[in-house]
Amino acid sequence: MITKIGLLGYGTVGAGVAQIVTQEQALLTQKLGWTIKLVKAVVRNPQAQRRFTPPEGLLTTEPDEVVGNPEIEVVCELIGGIEPARTLVLKALSAGQHVITANKALLALHGTEIFEKAQEVNRCVMFEAAVAGSIPIIRTIREGLSANRIQNLYGILNGTTNLILTRMSKDHLTFDSALKEAQQAGYAEADPTTDVMGYDAAHKLILLTALAYGVLPKMDDIHIEGITQLEPEDFSFASEFGYVIKLLAVSSLVEKETIEARLQPVMLPASHLLAGVGGAMNAVMVRGNASGDIFVSGPGAGMMPTASAVVGDILEVARTTRHSHSDHRPSALGWRSLKSEMIKPITQTSAPYYLRYAVIDRPGVLSSISGILGRHDISLAQVIQKGQNPQTGTVNLVMLTHRAVFGDLSEAVKETQALEVVKGVHLIRVEEFN
Ligand SMILES: NC(=O)c1ccc[n+]([C@@H]2O[C@H](COP(=O)([O-])OP(=O)(O)OC[C@H]3O[C@@H](n4cnc5c(N)ncnc54)[C@H](OP(=O)(O)O)[C@@H]3O)[C@@H](O)[C@H]2O)c1
Repeated sequence: MITKIGLLGYGTVGAGVAQIVTQEQALLTQKLGWTIKLVKAVVRNPQAQRRFTPPEGLLTTEPDEVVGNPEIEVVCELIGGIEPARTLVLKALSAGQHVITANKALLALHGTEIFEKAQEVNRCVMFEAAVAGSIPIIRTIREGLSANRIQNLYGILNGTTNLILTRMSKDHLTFDSALKEAQQAGYAEADPTTDVMGYDAAHKLILLTALAYGVLPKMDDIHIEGITQLEPEDFSFASEFGYVIKLLAVSSLVEKETIEARLQPVMLPASHLLAGVGGAMNAVMVRGNASGDIFVSGPGAGMMPTASAVVGDILEVARTTRHSHSDHRPSALGWRSLKSEMIKPITQTSAPYYLRYAVIDRPGVLSSISGILGRHDISLAQVIQKGQNPQTGTVNLVMLTHRAVFGDLSEAVKETQALEVVKGVHLIRVEEFN
């Protein structure tokens, strides 16, 4: 018996998949009981240099040699982006092929259409590689934790930004120099927008939220903040308060049928497990009502870690399609139907906040600012004043608030910005883990 697969894309991940399937064939056969065979791989330029040399005749520029090819049972979409990936995935499903993809953007933005099509035609869509690289978090939530009501989910889901934040925190680099260094080391793209603005991690948060709560949020439903506004002082003050700054994806059940979903830099206690996840590593912490806290960490990207997740899915599809009743494939998200649950607007959520004002050092400044904050129900837990900026002559007035409703805080901050003595303000949420 042989399970024949085709690849759409033979770039970083595609070449990694080919390498594992070729070099570990005996191991995979031992585990599965039969052979996985790579039949064709679609690329744009068959002459390009490859990280794992493909066997003679594997590469083609014709998608039809993979999609709709009756010989190929499983199609791995490793092209990336929205088109032609979306069209090819839908076409493969319609042709009765199972689909594996590493494409978080595609599933986050067009997941409803793709998952519905898979259900309609009774085919599998697997996407372990789309979230947190080699960490088997999709399977953990969908299967391992399926007996649970998920209460909280926290993730460090983008290796590039985690690397930048780690360098800013440990070595006091500015954002620009940490980014440049990450680009030189090959961790950040020449155009880093998708990573540093938080969009990549938000795509992954959408998928984890769907698995955890059975609701697939839209990008607009999620509060998304990137890391470009962070400055070295923020890391120094965070450390002084006993915190570490991380770009954290959060989705939590806050009330019955209400979810909070946000992706933002937060301060978290330096003693927390997630605070210790450094460099380009990813991590996810999930709390189930029965399971308690589960914590997983590992490489979130790269040729072989990502290929590991894709090949794991290939084996899983091969097994389930041979062994399970063919009329009832497992649903991609672990829910037979998706709910239209309400995502709580960020303005209604509450948390303690860190505020750093750059102010003219003059008597009465603190009372002007705290007066405005007080009128908006924001009370202060700690205040420190430190460090004159020789260029602007301003000093840092740093505050930690008690729990505040974000909508109220935003209004208050806007009002304080109009004060003549206020030259700038930075605001970071302090994450509470109950
Ligand atoms: N790289 C990672 O570490 C990583 C981690 C997690 C998830 N992912 C996801 O995995 C997917 C693939 O990423 P990657 O890094 O492997 O990308 P990549 O290195 O850029 O490879 C893309 C492949 O797709 C082919 N391709 C692009 N457009 C095509 C088109 N219109 N028609 C036919 N072939 C086309 C390219 O052909 P040519 O080679 O001829 O140009 C190339 O072989 C993406 O969705 C990405 O988000 C990647």
